[in-house]
Amino acid sequence: MREVVEQLKFFSDLGVTHLNVGTDDSPQSLEDIRQEIGDCRRCKLWERRNSIVFGVGNPEADLMFVGEAPGADEDAQGIPFVGRAGKLLTKIIEAMGLTREQVYIANIVKCRPPGNRDPQPDEVETCEGFLFQQIKAVQPRIIVALGRHAAQLLLQTNTPISKLRGEFFQFQNSLLIPTFHPSYLLRNPSSKRQVWEDMKAVQARLKEMV
Ligand code: URA
Repeated sequence: MREVVEQLKFFSDLGVTHLNVGTDDSPQSLEDIRQEIGDCRRCKLWERRNSIVFGVGNPEADLMFVGEAPGADEDAQGIPFVGRAGKLLTKIIEAMGLTREQVYIANIVKCRPPGNRDPQPDEVETCEGFLFQQIKAVQPRIIVALGRHAAQLLLQTNTPISKLRGEFFQFQNSLLIPTFHPSYLLRNPSSKRQVWEDMKAVQARLKEMV
């Protein structure tokens, strides 16, 4: 018992405020994961962020979208995909006959990289575990990886997004389909057609699965 108390004191001195002491392999809840993130300072992105942008939507969603990192609007509001690219993502979701409340939306990193630069490898490495835990908690039937960063991270590949998009892959217990990121679509509107093809394939698979 004394050892346990000492161990807990050790964690507490380290600033740990929450321990997952589950005895089985059951996933943490989204609330637990958010609590574990706390007022995170694990990587340098905390220095210039305003908000930790955790994720939003249905904790039991069949469909989950994974982006790269919050931008300025997301950092200001603490909600993923609310800026220009986010408005386009919302339109895509609604064109599928769904609402943002029915799906789950998260990013690889939870804090805005300054100037909207790409997240750096150490930042991704520090934060990716939280995304993996979110996926485990939500257990979506299908994950849409938005853009190169999400697709390459989740599939552990360097294959270009142009080659990956539109294909279904197995990711743990989910299917995963990479597609172009909405920010890319803002710059390349002619690629919207391909994304719509991908989303129709998602709709068809979801229909088969229920
Ligand atoms: N781009 C992303 O990848 N995520 C956001 O939340 C907003 C823009």
